Amino acid sequence: MRNNFNFIAPVYDKLGRLIFGNNLIDSQKAMLKHLKEGNHILILGGGSGEILKELDKQKIHLTISFVELSPKMIRLAKARQPFKNIEVTFICQNALAINPPNADVVITNYFLDVFALANLTLIMKKIENSLSTSGIWLCTDFRKTNSIFKNGLIKLMYLFFKIFSQLEANVLQDFEVQFETLGYKKIDSKFYFGKMIESCTYQKPNLTK
Ligand SMILES: C[S@@+](CC[C@H](N)C(=O)[O-])C[C@H]1O[C@@H](n2cnc3c(N)ncnc32)[C@H](O)[C@@H]1O
Repeated sequence: MRNNFNFIAPVYDKLGRLIFGNNLIDSQKAMLKHLKEGNHILILGGGSGEILKELDKQKIHLTISFVELSPKMIRLAKARQPFKNIEVTFICQNALAINPPNADVVITNYFLDVFALANLTLIMKKIENSLSTSGIWLCTDFRKTNSIFKNGLIKLMYLFFKIFSQLEANVLQDFEVQFETLGYKKIDSKFYFGKMIESCTYQKPNLTK
């Protein structure tokens, strides 16, 4: 199976903290200020659910569909319950094989980077269909920079996940180009780890205007 994060699940968060300090979780928190009371959120590839803890801390009522392929990751995410402010439906499925539930907000954090170009295009189109008119898409992920060290680190990460998770992708894609192709407008963004990580909010194009 491609993109199999079961083996790495028990150590994924610790490993991330070891290499990036708090940058992985801080970057995921950066765009949560755009959420509104009552939003329905679709999280794809939510991993061990660290983001759920942060969503619960927003102190607004949110309903969440949490789609994740790895049963081990889902188990870790479920173990974070109970929550005070959020209601979560856990969906252990391949996001490529389902029609994801409709949502006002989509969150893809370090998720798009697991796909090769053909499936990236496919998954983004699927997500696009689930997102309500004038919905927003919060996306945090790695990006290439001018730093030889950081681009080397990205290559090493892809090699590591290729070995331990049978990662589908061989290289990091330019997600900004993909969002632009879909007509999305970047309305907010923040860099982390010397611009190697970018946390963005994209606005869905309103085609009825
Ligand atoms: C790099 S991890 C990121 C996890 C989490 N978002 C985070 O930032 O900590 C990618 C996650 O996407 C999940 N994943 C990969 N392919 C998937 C697919 N086709 N459908 C649903 N989840 C998938 C993996 O199981 C893994 O938990």
